[in-house]
Amino acid sequence: MEGRQLTYNKSPQNIQELIDSLHVLFSEEKVNIEEVQDVMERYESREGDWECFAHYDEYRYTRNLVDSGNGKFNLMVLCWGESMGSSIHSHSDSHCFMKVLDGSLRETLFNWPSPSEKRHEMPPRGVNDYTRNQVAYINDSHGLHRVENMSHTDTACSLHLYSPPFDSCLSFDQRSGKQHEAKVTFWSKYGERTPLTTGGCSTAMEPEDN
Ligand code: SIN
Repeated sequence: MEGRQLTYNKSPQNIQELIDSLHVLFSEEKVNIEEVQDVMERYESREGDWECFAHYDEYRYTRNLVDSGNGKFNLMVLCWGESMGSSIHSHSDSHCFMKVLDGSLRETLFNWPSPSEKRHEMPPRGVNDYTRNQVAYINDSHGLHRVENMSHTDTACSLHLYSPPFDSCLSFDQRSGKQHEAKVTFWSKYGERTPLTTGGCSTAMEPEDN
């Protein structure tokens, strides 16, 4: 209980203190979304804390595992090259928190396609722009989203927490609403490059037209 109060009252001074606070918050039965979002917001991004996890790829955004949260959550750094984005996707019944560490990111929200309209264009429902240190939250009951680095000149970096962890979700084609199961893997784990599997390594949810 005392550890919990300390966690809640103190702003994390670095990423390790943030991870420690997250372990305390996720040791509880029920996830308190506001508290997790609050502690992630109170951590002030410093390059020196997370640059060892930030690996960029020329062609797609990368997912880099930072901490596996005692099996309760996955915390990862995502690196977005100029103009890179994810596909429209779901979150496998998990909580998704996204904090911008560097640059800025656009989140576009979509409704789930209606099961009766199998092939149907998916119109955006709304757009949120996030800048350094801001935190977004979504789960499947809120709908679907896509995240993009809108800048043609600057990279962006974000810290994502998924609880419970998942390794696949649904990915959607905006023009047709067609969906498929997308496996998500890590470009690196704990700062070390993940060995490439034969047949290629799909690390990210990419838009259908890439
Ligand atoms: C996102 O667009 O929310 C990131 C998706 C991912 O975890 O790969």
